[in-house]
Amino acid sequence: MEFLIATVTLLTIILLIVLIGTRGRPMMAVSQFRSFLTGVNENKVQLSIFILLILLSAAVIYYFFVMPDLDAGPVQPISFSHRLHAGDKNIDCRFCHSYVDRSIHPGIPAVEKCLFCHNFIIANHPEILKEHAYFNSQTPTPWAKVFYLPEHVVFNHERHIKKEIQCEACHGNVKGTDRLKFVEFQMGFCVECHRAKDANLDCWLACHN
Ligand code: HEC
Ligand code: HEC
Ligand code: HEC
Ligand code: HEC
Repeated sequence: MEFLIATVTLLTIILLIVLIGTRGRPMMAVSQFRSFLTGVNENKVQLSIFILLILLSAAVIYYFFVMPDLDAGPVQPISFSHRLHAGDKNIDCRFCHSYVDRSIHPGIPAVEKCLFCHNFIIANHPEILKEHAYFNSQTPTPWAKVFYLPEHVVFNHERHIKKEIQCEACHGNVKGTDRLKFVEFQMGFCVECHRAKDANLDCWLACHN
């Protein structure tokens, strides 16, 4: 949706550039490009508007097309979106990460779980066909991991979930994110909440091994 708006805005700005540059005769831009440029060059007001609009369209391109990608996490093998699934479609986190309150590893869903829905929903979408390829060749989907803990730290989801700490407290706004971003958890982050909640602060007993 944002992309549609951005594209329409961009096209409108380009149309304005052409209309102003050609004083209302857009075909001139095609047939007499050179004299059009000199024409613009001689009229200072027109030239400033022209440059301003070009800068404006560059800004629109940057903010809507380049920035979101710079701001997103790593490209995943299948363009899976948490915003769409957990946000818009409101699928429960635990439907996919089923072991989060029962084991140390929350688990990334196997492709079977995706196909549970996608055998019926948009079954011929190119990204869904990739799921079939992984399924048929029995290859686990090579998802890029994004949340990191230093290796010597033990972390157990179960303990935290049982205390009703929300996923968002540690993982941020997953429901509003298409591609999750890299996060390396720092000790200060863990300690701050342990202190606030009166949880174990005994480093060696609790977190380090
Ligand atoms: C509970 C049902 C359900 C499950 C499970 C599910 N999806 Fe979806 N998925 C949907 C729905 C609903 C849509 C929106 C379809 C539409 O646009 O009409 C969707 C859309 C998509 C799209 C298309 C997005 C786009 O750009 O249009 C991709 C890719 C996708 N899912 C990947 C996955 C992957 C990978 C998994 C497994 C990790 C998965 N889905 C699991 C329901 C599900
Ligand atoms: C339809 C299935 C599905 C749902 C629902 C879902 N996830 Fe995921 N989740 C995935 C898949 C597939 C990946 C791996 C790809 C990725 O990182 O985007 C993943 C990755 C993650 C990761 C990153 C793991 C890592 O380090 O790489 C976190 C954290 C996570 N999900 C949290 C959540 C939370 C919190 C919710 C609920 C708000 C949720 N997920 C809902 C399928 C799902
Ligand atoms: C107290 C903080 C905290 C809470 C709350 C939390 N997580 Fe995590 N989560 C982490 C940390 C830390 C890691 C990285 C663990 C690692 O690398 O071993 C992680 C990793 C993950 C992963 C990736 C696991 C993998 O195998 O790569 C998934 C998926 C995930 N969390 C889902 C969830 C879901 C779903 C919830 C809510 C039901 C949740 N988490 C709540 C801290 C938390
Ligand atoms: C949002 C708050 C919060 C954050 C953030 C958090 N914790 Fe916790 N943690 C708790 C609470 C509350 C408990 C107590 C659970 C209980 O009593 O069963 C706990 C318990 C634990 C325990 C078990 C301690 C024991 O008594 O044996 C470990 C280990 C642990 N956390 C590690 C971590 C690590 C590592 C991080 C950082 C990646 C972290 N926690 C981040 C709230 C948090």
